[in-house]
Amino acid sequence: MSEWFIYRGTGDPDPERIDRRPAPPPWRDFGAPPIDYRVPEADSATTRRLGTRAVPLAVPGSEALRLINAALYLRRPLLITGEPGSGKSTLAHDLAFELGLGRVLQWPVVSRSELRDGLYSYDAIGRLQDAQLARLEDGGNGGNGGNGGCGPAGGPHPAGDIGRYLRLGPLGTALLAAERPRVLLIDELDKSDIDLPNDLLNVLEEGEFTLPELERVADRPGQQTVQVLTDDGLRAPVTGGRVRCRAFPVVVMTSNRERDFPAPLLRRCIHLDLAAPRDERLAAMVQAHFGAGSYDEYIGLVDRFVRTEADGGVRPTDQLLNAIYLVQHTAGRHPADQEAVADLLMRPLDNGPR
Ligand SMILES: Nc1ncnc2c1ncn2[C@@H]1O[C@H](COP(=O)(O)OP(=O)(O)OP(=O)(O)O)[C@@H](O)[C@H]1O
Ligand SMILES: [Mg+2]
Repeated sequence: MSEWFIYRGTGDPDPERIDRRPAPPPWRDFGAPPIDYRVPEADSATTRRLGTRAVPLAVPGSEALRLINAALYLRRPLLITGEPGSGKSTLAHDLAFELGLGRVLQWPVVSRSELRDGLYSYDAIGRLQDAQLARLEDGGNGGNGGNGGCGPAGGPHPAGDIGRYLRLGPLGTALLAAERPRVLLIDELDKSDIDLPNDLLNVLEEGEFTLPELERVADRPGQQTVQVLTDDGLRAPVTGGRVRCRAFPVVVMTSNRERDFPAPLLRRCIHLDLAAPRDERLAAMVQAHFGAGSYDEYIGLVDRFVRTEADGGVRPTDQLLNAIYLVQHTAGRHPADQEAVADLLMRPLDNGPR
């Protein structure tokens, strides 16, 4: 294990290691002043994927570890390609767990996704409705039309609190000026519209973006700093309508190689092609979900899985995990069923030879 590794893939959490990184290179130093904002603990999405942690975590190969750590040092996004089920998305959860970085912000990309979805949303209609309601309640007197003034009792109308209608998306939340970096998973970027990778470039390069709705009101009294909702469902302050990061987030972008990315995006990322888990890594994954010793106990199924893969065709790790679960809970009592279950579940995803 190289001394310089911050992420080691051992499953041994050490929240202080990330703080021992050297200062960022000058071209990746964003350094916004810290804001008062709480980062939630890891949620069930992480525990579901990573399993029980009764054994050391799935150790990626040493080349993978070097690339992941290079991205952490350089404050660059990681672009992870690989077959379905090779562990690309779970790597983001591994990173957050081992480095103690709290809840993973997840942006599942689909063909309709736009940059704005990742940054923030503004519920203009909700705000208008609240403003109209407030006017009705005022009986038409003293209402402020939702422009940030005061209600009849001297308190602000809900509609005047524009921050209640602004919600940062996963990318927007990851760029808040937290002391420690957040982990952001931009999942399946290759499913996006052709423009999204290019649109992402600028934000990932500059580490900031603006919310025009807040910029417009920033010179009004009391509206310079507005509390907006975050992707975590909490509130965080945004000043002058600009969100700028302090520590660049740990960005993990995944792709099933359904299409190529533009060279300018590739240039700004560290690219890791994650091989399908085998041997030690596969053993660690099985034991993370089924406990120490389970790899040896179900070695028959593991052999079958590895052998069928050698025949060609894509076989994700989930198939093996599903087969073990079923054998453990049902077919284990009916040994004759084991082979049938394995055959049913461990089929190639593509049309490769079987
Ligand atoms: N480090 C790990 N520890 C425990 N289980 C893991 C680990 N990495 C992956 N797995 C398990 O392997 C399975 C596949 O992982 P994952 O969903 O991350 O693959 P993927 O490459 O993102 O697949 P896809 O391309 O289909 O999205 C999951 O069921 C996950 O729980
Ligand atoms: Mg995935």
